[in-house]
Amino acid sequence: MAKAAGPVNVTRDNGSKQTRILRADAAAIAEAASVLRAGGLTAFPTETVYGLGARADDPPAVAALYAAKGRPSFNPLIAHVRDLEAAKRLGEFSEAALELAKKFWPGPLTIVVKASGNDAVCELARAGLDTVATRVPSHEVAQALLAEVDFPIVAPSANRSGHVSPTNAQHVADDLSGKLDLILDGGSSEGGIESTIVDFSGDTPRLLRSGGIPRAAIEKITGTLVAASKSEVSAPGMMASHYAPRARIRLDVRDVRENEALLAFGPKLPANANTARKVLNLSESGDLTEAASNLYAHLRALDLVNAHSIAVAPIPNEGLGEAIRDRLQRAAAPRDA
Ligand code: TXA
Ligand code: MG
Repeated sequence: MAKAAGPVNVTRDNGSKQTRILRADAAAIAEAASVLRAGGLTAFPTETVYGLGARADDPPAVAALYAAKGRPSFNPLIAHVRDLEAAKRLGEFSEAALELAKKFWPGPLTIVVKASGNDAVCELARAGLDTVATRVPSHEVAQALLAEVDFPIVAPSANRSGHVSPTNAQHVADDLSGKLDLILDGGSSEGGIESTIVDFSGDTPRLLRSGGIPRAAIEKITGTLVAASKSEVSAPGMMASHYAPRARIRLDVRDVRENEALLAFGPKLPANANTARKVLNLSESGDLTEAASNLYAHLRALDLVNAHSIAVAPIPNEGLGEAIRDRLQRAAAPRDA
């Protein structure tokens, strides 16, 4: 049973917090709102992955959020709001941006626009950029939380920076326990892969991150999207090593090697699958929606068997496959540390 909302005790320093996990009923959601109001950190479910929330207009709260994740403060955050009206107060939406928002919000889409002059999303949360990333999540717990507060909630995925994203409350606790005040447990995130990010701050819309809404569905509205250039650092989640488990990742495998775990896809397994330390299938029927929703939980589970590497079967580069392959490629990227 969730505790009734009481006085909120929020520690501002990053030493050690008492992290509570509460089933996301109305009382727990009200308490999470109080935690945020007081400048604390609360994790909550969205339809893509779990987010680590802080109030967007409070620089010390945002600083604590960066510290909790170990996230470099040059990597800006997404501001979550209730609806398009609230988003419009944060930035300048062009006609094209509005059209896309109306089509896909609430849902797994993030829209980057030129920031308005106000500090509703503080400069630290924007990493000093003159743009702001906005998203209206559809998950009912996220919506209920946003309805309780009168500020936007900035929320990166609720994992240690660079690690696999969380799709349930336990994943959040595994990564961040002691570093946040509250985790709202709303079960597993259904979508399983982060929002698609489209940038409307320049002359032509650009795809900064593939995600929960496939490119083709977006291009039906926007026309062909320009990809973000490889050298760009405006979306560091797009770069280098990210989304990574401890084990190495080997992609598009046709055969399993010694001391490997296997992440399979579809009915046909790679050669030597029976020698794998553990096998999990993203979708036995080869369904990409099911694969996206299983991706991070399977990566975390395979990482627990301490194999040298995780062999990943080929996944088609179409529909949600583009985002799945994107995340796996980043998980496979060479790591600095
Ligand atoms: O599905 C999602 O988007 C999840 C849930 C919790 O909403 N959030 C998420 O946040 O994936 P995060 O912080 O892990 O990834 C946000 C990405 C980062 O790659 C960041 O660089 C980019 O959004 N971003 C944020 N603000 C930006 C801006 N103004 N311009 C360009 N990229 C931006
Ligand atoms: Mg992330």
